[in-house]
Amino acid sequence: MLESTRYIPDESTMLRFGKKLAENILQVQANRAVILYFNGDLGAGKTTLTRGMVQGLGHQGKVKSPTYTLVEEYNVAGKMIYHFDLYRLADPEELEFMGIRDYFAKDCICLIEWPEKGEGLLPPADLSVNIDYYDDARNITLIAQTTLGEQILRQL
Ligand SMILES: Nc1ncnc2c1ncn2[C@@H]1O[C@H](COP(=O)(O)OP(=O)(O)OP(=O)(O)O)[C@@H](O)[C@H]1O
Ligand SMILES: [Mg+2]
Repeated sequence: MLESTRYIPDESTMLRFGKKLAENILQVQANRAVILYFNGDLGAGKTTLTRGMVQGLGHQGKVKSPTYTLVEEYNVAGKMIYHFDLYRLADPEELEFMGIRDYFAKDCICLIEWPEKGEGLLPPADLSVNIDYYDDARNITLIAQTTLGEQILRQL
């Protein structure tokens, strides 16, 4: 599978990278939910990357972590973006109660922090985004898991 690593020296580079990533996703004709898993320790930059993506597509307001609500949604550039943070998910059944399947049935972009907490109830990722950090620098490794993921990566 296609894989790509990027060095991200600072937060503004992360935000710019998010914008580019989101633009690429819009360019790919998906006609289904595009699923990204964000892996990385606390403070690695998963929410910051999400902010770069959502604001990069034109969202004017804040992008806050949906730690307690589990999901935040944005309607931007003619697309729904669902940002999940499953860190505080106690029981994967909570995802059933919130009707998680309905989200993934749409033509949308789903950005999922802490996907391992929802194992078994999430669709497989198109793209895994792994963030490693050391002080202010980050290394992002993107791994395409589907043909769609490969299409997104190829243009990045
Ligand atoms: N190169 C960088 N890229 C991204 N964030 C950076 C970078 N350098 C410093 N930061 C800072 O690191 C923090 C990243 O926090 P963020 O909330 O995005 O992490 P997270 O991975 O979502 O954590 P959590 O698992 O707690 O949700 C922010 O305070 C941000 O300002
Ligand atoms: Mg976060």
